[in-house]
Amino acid sequence: MTQLEGRVAIITGAAGGIGSAVARRYSEEGARLVLADIVGDRVEAVAETITEAGGTAVAVTCDVAKEVDIDKVVQTAVENYGQIDIMANIAQGAMGDMAYLDETTIDQATTNFVTGPLQSMLFMQKCLPHMKERGYGRIINTASHSAVMGAPGFAPYEMAKGAIMALTRNASQEWAKYGIVANTFMPVVRTPAYDLSEQGRAAAESMAANNPTGRFGTPYEDLTPVLVFLASEGAGYVNGQLIGVDGGGFLIA
Ligand SMILES: NC(=O)c1ccc[n+]([C@@H]2O[C@H](COP(=O)([O-])OP(=O)(O)OC[C@H]3O[C@@H](n4cnc5c(N)ncnc54)[C@H](O)[C@@H]3O)[C@@H](O)[C@H]2O)c1
Repeated sequence: MTQLEGRVAIITGAAGGIGSAVARRYSEEGARLVLADIVGDRVEAVAETITEAGGTAVAVTCDVAKEVDIDKVVQTAVENYGQIDIMANIAQGAMGDMAYLDETTIDQATTNFVTGPLQSMLFMQKCLPHMKERGYGRIINTASHSAVMGAPGFAPYEMAKGAIMALTRNASQEWAKYGIVANTFMPVVRTPAYDLSEQGRAAAESMAANNPTGRFGTPYEDLTPVLVFLASEGAGYVNGQLIGVDGGGFLIA
């Protein structure tokens, strides 16, 4: 039996490097999917590829900064499948708009928060009644090592990712009694996101050169098996954790 048989997952950022790989892997593991991304044609293409391979996926064009779009995604899951078991909050807006702290504007910080922790919070809140009903929930949120270690030039992004960690830990304490666990992962895998800014390109070069494995990981091969585990029955006692999937590139005490 595949690990996510009978499960329904919502995945945001599903047209992106990580989100599309997670979608493919979750489908291979038997989950039925709602895929959300702001780039409509790309997320539809991801859903189509999955359907052609025999899986079940519905695409929703969604700007996670808009609550009405979040409602549409959750509604799509309920209408199509009648249940929600897994919420993978992978989208993060404004990744091309990095800044040093002394130059960070309220607008940049606000956009990072709205398209990061605040939309993740809304997705979690709106999935909560459906997960409670099932007595099963797996919330998987996406942070970044930069928020733990501090990385010059990423100030608004780092602040938002730090808030995602705090949000997830809060849920881990408040919602475990419903059979819901919440964890945060911190990836280091090559995706198009690194090409969005000068800081991103420099970080990618440095991480590729310095990883102890001697390589820069890939979303499907290196990251998605961990995210399958976090979504699975077996992860029911893994809660509130901050999990680096980075080849040992960042060791955090
Ligand atoms: N790749 C890495 O090594 C790495 C490292 C640290 C954190 N992350 C995090 O992983 C997640 C995925 O990143 P990725 O590397 O796959 O990047 P990516 O750019 O390939 O994918 C991001 C996806 O999010 C979508 N998106 C952006 N704004 C949106 C919005 N307002 N509404 C809906 N969708 C929106 C984009 O269209 C894109 O498809 C992000 O949260 C990112 O911060 C990635």
